[in-house]
Amino acid sequence: MASLKDRIEGLRKAFEDGLLKAGDARSLEELRTAFLSRKKGHVTLLFEDLKSAAAEEKREAGRLVNEFKNFVVVRLDGLEAGLRTDVRPARPVDLTLPGRKRYVGTPHPLTLFQEEIEAIFLGMGFSIEEGPEIETDYYNFEALNFPPHHPARDSWDTLYIKDDLLLRTHTSPVQIRVMERSKPPIRIVCPGRVFRRETPDPTHLPMFMQIEGLVVDEGITFAHLKGTLEYFIRALFGEKIKVRFRPSFFPFTEPSAEVDIECIVCSGKDPACRVCGGTGWKEILGSGMVDPQVLKNVNIDPEKYSGWAFGLGIDRTAMFAFGIPEMRYFYENDLRFLRQFGTK
Ligand code: FA5
Repeated sequence: MASLKDRIEGLRKAFEDGLLKAGDARSLEELRTAFLSRKKGHVTLLFEDLKSAAAEEKREAGRLVNEFKNFVVVRLDGLEAGLRTDVRPARPVDLTLPGRKRYVGTPHPLTLFQEEIEAIFLGMGFSIEEGPEIETDYYNFEALNFPPHHPARDSWDTLYIKDDLLLRTHTSPVQIRVMERSKPPIRIVCPGRVFRRETPDPTHLPMFMQIEGLVVDEGITFAHLKGTLEYFIRALFGEKIKVRFRPSFFPFTEPSAEVDIECIVCSGKDPACRVCGGTGWKEILGSGMVDPQVLKNVNIDPEKYSGWAFGLGIDRTAMFAFGIPEMRYFYENDLRFLRQFGTK
């Protein structure tokens, strides 16, 4: 019986090798003849040999030979049908092989971080607005109090599409669009991509994300700005984070302040830190009280209403939140980096 089993295994292997090589109907026919021909086919010869098998082994031996014959017939018929419909003969499928592992995608770290920021502002009663990435000079500059040829335009190195059309350099034009179409009280945040002619370095990119905030109502003061931004930064980074407000200048806010947080990469201990330059601080946002002229530009009475606004760099702040020393990682699409984030 053992020798019959070995013979069948040998034949099965020869048959499978033959199948792999058979690329057309003719070679399949040759294979059929070699195994099933009534005179000298391998299967026919196996049946011949059964006749001389010992009586007690006949039953099991017959079962093995029949099983092998069925295997040969089914495979040949299947492949011939495939050839008839002009399909290349399929390779034998090994159902015991493990399947290919498919990775489930995760949200991009910047999307997750943007949603975290939005959730904090939604919790304070803000709503979310969006605006176009291609803007006119009026919304990106003029309505925000940058007269034509004003030197302050130089700090936003702009990518122009044509004379009056540009890639927005900040999310502040959304302020104007929202104030034009709604009446105070206004309490909004506007996330989005912005573009500047910049040479990339660890904390600067030519395309990055900002989120703008705007509050306009009666009786709004700088205390509201400071209280809200401090609450937001502590909600994002924890109670212990060091924050400082620094006087600054933006044509559309007066007074203006930039907000720095302590450098999470070196905590001010590395004089050669590539992120903070050894100062121990890194700016994450610009802010200020909306200039009365900007309110006039959108027909809101500055005698009755006042407002404050801010613009935060999402990528820059995400670097600190995730402890990443290099902003370019966010855009290199290296899956080893991206798979560390996402839903757990
Ligand atoms: C502005 O863009 C103002 N629109 C912000 C503002 C809004 C001020 C409302 C007052 C009222 P600034 O150019 O400083 O300001 O950019 C704001 C933030 O964007 C920075 O604090 C920084 O976090 C981020 N940022 C600026 N330039 C880059 C850059 N090249 N790459 C990545 N992030 C940047």
